Amino acid sequence: MTRASWGSRIGFIVAAAGSAIGLANIWRFPYIVGHFGGAAFILVYLLFLMLVGVPVFIAEVLVGRTAQASPSGAFEKIGGNKLWGLAGKGTILTGLIVSAFYSVVSGWIIGYLIMAVEGTVTTLHTTALAAQHFNAMIAHPWWAVSNHAIFMLISTSILYFGVRGGIEKANKIFLPTLFIVLILLLIQGLMLPGAENALKFLLHPNWSALTPGALITAMGHAFFTLSLGQGTMVTYGSYIPQNESIIKACTPPVIMDTIVSLLAAVVVFTIVFGSGYEPNAGPGLIFHTLPTVFSQLSGGYGLAILFFLLVFSAALTSQISAMEPTIAYLMESWNWSRHSATILCGTTAFVLGIPCALAAGLLSNVRIFDMDILDAVSTFTSDVLIPAGGFFAVVLVGYRWGYPGAMRALLPEGGASWLKGYFWFCFKITAPLLMIIVFLDALGVFR
Ligand code: PHE
Repeated sequence: MTRASWGSRIGFIVAAAGSAIGLANIWRFPYIVGHFGGAAFILVYLLFLMLVGVPVFIAEVLVGRTAQASPSGAFEKIGGNKLWGLAGKGTILTGLIVSAFYSVVSGWIIGYLIMAVEGTVTTLHTTALAAQHFNAMIAHPWWAVSNHAIFMLISTSILYFGVRGGIEKANKIFLPTLFIVLILLLIQGLMLPGAENALKFLLHPNWSALTPGALITAMGHAFFTLSLGQGTMVTYGSYIPQNESIIKACTPPVIMDTIVSLLAAVVVFTIVFGSGYEPNAGPGLIFHTLPTVFSQLSGGYGLAILFFLLVFSAALTSQISAMEPTIAYLMESWNWSRHSATILCGTTAFVLGIPCALAAGLLSNVRIFDMDILDAVSTFTSDVLIPAGGFFAVVLVGYRWGYPGAMRALLPEGGASWLKGYFWFCFKITAPLLMIIVFLDALGVFR
């Protein structure tokens, strides 16, 4: 079987951008920015992006592109032994777990998109009412599981058609949709009365809100939003032809991801400030605060539909990228056809997601470290599994493969000395070191 590849550099760019841009940009970024005081957090985030996010992103794509194999085969080939292969397999498993709970939350988005079309979202006139409605919906087993099933079915159908016919094509449809909707919402938001306050909040740094927790959050977010640590970028990188420039292919997705996070924050805060709400509503921001706001704005009905369509498009292209490493692995190591591999992956992720879908309802009594199942799984994944995967990738490149060999693969024609210096510094020092700090923090060493 010949290995699949992207149709062109653009194919990789849209797929990687589609993967990176997801719930983390539109749902999570605005609320953590709100929580940690606006501009100050954004600056710290950008710093972590440059010192950890970008190098790990490049390291993963480089490993995949060079080995032309799934994360399991790629880690084993570059690392030179089975133990590294095991680390690669671990990242694939992380991706599968992410795809299980990611689909549950994306299922809520489908539910809200349907409710927006029905007009229910715009009847939630107060945050108390919106919160009550949200809690009732996610506790409803049938609602949560069926929306999870619908989302999984749509994702699996796309993956069924392969790298070019499925993933690349879907991204070429959903990514532009996302940008168009985002710009429409941005124009709308900027015309609202509170726009000025929103921009002030986002541009004026409040350093006192920057607690140590903010630093760790900023780094964890850089990982999650760039889809690192779970085999996704290794797999997408493995579909890049050998002669393609990695720097040219990787720069646009990172820039697009960052722009979408920033614009999503502007959109969410102009809408929130426009109606006199507080920006620090936490994870409930898009489910409690925004529906209330949509209910009060003229044109809120259309805005609500557009907004949830935006989130849906973003989530879908991320979901497929979390599942693809498993499929690539089954095809490569077990010699399965794409169709069988896709069905097994989709079914497994669906079944794994069911306890998460029931976490707020039937299984709400099950508590793990005082969290429900969904919270526990997503926290453990983002705080432990994902940083571990990213750590392995960057240590693999910086120490096992070694800087000179990795640089020959990354910059075959040589490159500017500042660029080489930057990568040396990040691969060897900042990325592994800062990640060790996150690990220690996840273990509670600093608390
Ligand atoms: N990067 C995606 C987001 O920002 C999340 C994601 C995680 C995507 C894992 C793929 C794999 O929402």
